[in-house]
Amino acid sequence: MIETLAYVKNFLRDRQVASITPTSQFGVRGLCGTIDFKQTRVIVEYGPGTGVFTHYLLQNMRSDSKLIAIERNRDFGSFLKQTIRDPRIRIFNDSAENVIDTLSACKESAADYVISGIPFMWIPNDIKDNIIKSTYKALKPGGKFLVYQTCLQMDCHLKVHLEHVFGPVHARYEIRNFPPLRLYEATKSTAAFQLPGNGGNGHNGSNGKNGNGHGR
Ligand SMILES: C[S@@+](CC[C@H](N)C(=O)[O-])C[C@H]1O[C@@H](n2cnc3c(N)ncnc32)[C@H](O)[C@@H]1O
Repeated sequence: MIETLAYVKNFLRDRQVASITPTSQFGVRGLCGTIDFKQTRVIVEYGPGTGVFTHYLLQNMRSDSKLIAIERNRDFGSFLKQTIRDPRIRIFNDSAENVIDTLSACKESAADYVISGIPFMWIPNDIKDNIIKSTYKALKPGGKFLVYQTCLQMDCHLKVHLEHVFGPVHARYEIRNFPPLRLYEATKSTAAFQLPGNGGNGHNGSNGKNGNGHGR
């Protein structure tokens, strides 16, 4: 209930919140069901909001793994810092665009998974492409970018942009959420290699900004 009130308040003030209610457990399990938690050490989450995915991830992650949460909205960032006490998580008030700097701040070079609920439909194409390229660069070879969006998303809003960087992307619907979700799974090729200072597939994944997030 507190979570829904926080959403309504922030939705009215911040267009990038893009939802008036947290994702349902159907949506959370639908997106995260394929995560191999036993083999996972680093997960990055974009746009945790009040933390419905965050709690699920922490419940299932190994005791020696790390969750890096990047939330742009300051109210949600403060809410997460006040309500989640777990030594495996670091919470940053920042934009997903700065994921590479954020990983460095956590002394990590790459993630096994990036989970994202940020509203790509409302994000201008240049920023969207920067986020996708930076995410590709932030993943280990074989790592996955798992994304949930509302079912209103057309391919031109996200799938086409993802495929430009990752290659073929698997997309499906989860209708037991309100509103129904479109779920995407984009995998970084295991043949990908990291060039120093460059994106693994030859794209320059520069995020164009310096990190200014405040982790804990
Ligand atoms: C649709 S809500 C999802 C919230 C929550 N994960 C859930 O499933 O209920 C989108 C979230 O992404 C955050 N967000 C939007 N743009 C962002 C960005 N560029 N970087 C990080 N977070 C962002 C919003 O503040 C909001 O918390």
